[in-house]
Amino acid sequence: MNSPQKFVIRAYARAKVNLYLHILDRRQDGYHELDSLFVFGDIADVIEVSPSPALSFKVRGPFAEALSAEEDNLVLRAARMLADTAEIKPQIKITLTKNLPVAAGLGGGSADAAAALRALAEFWKIPSSKVDLAPLGLSIGSDVPACLLSGPCYVGGIGQRLEPLPEFPSFPLLLVNPRIELRTGLIFETFKKKFSKAARFSQIPPDVFALAELLQSRNNDLEEPAIEICPEIAEILVAIKKTKGCLLARLSGSGATCFGMYGDTQDAEQAAISLRRGGWWTEVTTTAKAKCS
Ligand code: C5P
Repeated sequence: MNSPQKFVIRAYARAKVNLYLHILDRRQDGYHELDSLFVFGDIADVIEVSPSPALSFKVRGPFAEALSAEEDNLVLRAARMLADTAEIKPQIKITLTKNLPVAAGLGGGSADAAAALRALAEFWKIPSSKVDLAPLGLSIGSDVPACLLSGPCYVGGIGQRLEPLPEFPSFPLLLVNPRIELRTGLIFETFKKKFSKAARFSQIPPDVFALAELLQSRNNDLEEPAIEICPEIAEILVAIKKTKGCLLARLSGSGATCFGMYGDTQDAEQAAISLRRGGWWTEVTTTAKAKCS
């Protein structure tokens, strides 16, 4: 029989990528109304939950040191909020393995908080009829509801209106980050252009080639302000576009991670090797088809 100490629940905080991100409006409270298309890679931070006499939190992994106090707090905040809502004493140890760059436009703290909520709901056996994780998550970060889903979806409102896309094609993605952290709030504040229109597809494209074609006439509205703050992003985008087989290069979220879309995994891997030489963090990932654990 397993001792209770060996009992571990694991959840994955998959890298979030915005294939397009249109800013539709600015609200009175300073938040922005968005229309965005989210996909998730199979590279992820990992949250592990196990029993412990008191609530404790540990971070390890390649980006553990870069983790800001804010992000530790998002995981702990998620744990405390769920415990309070479900009236449970949080006697748990949470371990976060930080494999993804921090403050990078890949979901970051929101993805970690969402994974913590999923792991804890399973650990404490909280049924979805008792606690709805999405509104709880939204109060932690705008990307948390989409990160709870962790599959392709349109995202509207400030991040709370989701339309899952179970039939969305899966494809290889190259991720490139200059190892420079960008604060989401600052990039939104720097955005001064005209607002865009919503730009959802009339039909889900059948493959990555048709998808890349449709994305050419859409943007990430945060790309310009992010380049203003971090000019190296422009250099990365040019470098990705030049790689063999690249169908589209764009910034994800508020950056500074850029992505390249490819029809062929080998092309993406070759591009990752060549761009890594510049000292940039590069990874090739395959986008998830639907809701993941
Ligand atoms: O929700 P989250 O804490 O991730 O957002 C960080 C910052 O990004 C917010 O404080 C806000 O300035 C900006 N933001 C925004 N509109 C959104 C999401 C985030 O203006 N839809």
